[in-house]
Amino acid sequence: MNEQVRLAKRDPGLDRILTLELVRVTERAAVAAARLRGRGDEMAADQAAVDAMRKELNRLAIDGTVVIGEGERDEAPMLYIGEIVGTKKGPKVDIALDPLEGTTICAKNLPNALAVIAIAEQGTLLYAPDVYMAKIAIGPGYPTGVVDLDASPEENIRALAKAKGCPVNEITACILDRPRHAKIIEAVRNTGAAIRLIGDGDVAGVIHTTEPDETGIDIYMGTGGAPEGVLAAAALRCIGGQMQGRLIIDTDEKRERSLKMGIADPNKKFDMTEMARGDVLFAATGVTDGNMLAGVKFGRDSIQTHTVVMRSSSGTVRWIKAKHQDLDKFDDAR
Ligand code: FBP
Repeated sequence: MNEQVRLAKRDPGLDRILTLELVRVTERAAVAAARLRGRGDEMAADQAAVDAMRKELNRLAIDGTVVIGEGERDEAPMLYIGEIVGTKKGPKVDIALDPLEGTTICAKNLPNALAVIAIAEQGTLLYAPDVYMAKIAIGPGYPTGVVDLDASPEENIRALAKAKGCPVNEITACILDRPRHAKIIEAVRNTGAAIRLIGDGDVAGVIHTTEPDETGIDIYMGTGGAPEGVLAAAALRCIGGQMQGRLIIDTDEKRERSLKMGIADPNKKFDMTEMARGDVLFAATGVTDGNMLAGVKFGRDSIQTHTVVMRSSSGTVRWIKAKHQDLDKFDDAR
């Protein structure tokens, strides 16, 4: 019995029923966003996902506070940081969410746009400001510390290949295709490893490291959004793997903002368990087709969704393919 399962038996943590309730929340958001797939309108797709997720979230028996959301209160009218959601008749929880992770991907109808949420015991998620975060992540089954944010890309790739027991040229790193990553990309290529360059969507990029046989991705490296970093860490806490992140605090304004959110050391290297500490539930529904999750499919009389939902305390990972025939319940998202 692994440590997490043993702890779960001692302390049941968050209500188990919540795990499945969470599926409806991401399903709703994904369907709403998917109706606007490929229309070139990022904002409309995002707004539809936000509205739908908020509506369903407010039906959950939780007293939830959004800690990673759509932005500060003055810049996001809904699902802003600090918004209280749920019926307020359940456990006090922290919520990290991204109703549409990969707005550009959805607008262009490219792979791996997701509707994502994580719920954790109150005070156990990192309250990350909306700045960049340097990230490194690998899937389960490797010795602790085999890769490190402070090691060079070459060192990390070689250490990973050794731990996997394969030549370096059989390793694939997932990296966001951005000019800021030119040096990492060059360094990784110099080792002989392959790179999967993604246009957007690094929550999916990190999660893909957990199933390298299926996704072809062994390691995620590079800088992306800090909120997405916390969401990805929550997922890895459940499914297994290792991740580290460091906020990029390069201005006084960002330093002040992170201080306000309780981050005293701007250079701190956060481990996965420091980004998501307590009992965590994580759910993601595919909006567009992806490497692990199929996108929403609209049929004549039904809608199909594909969701993964996980719980850290038990380590259970459920893949839920749902066929929705009561289309009226999705009407409000139309
Ligand atoms: P959005 O869904 O908010 O558009 O984020 C997409 C994303 O690619 C994230 O997955 C990633 O963390 C971040 O943007 C990277 O930021 P940038 O586009 O500024 O490089």
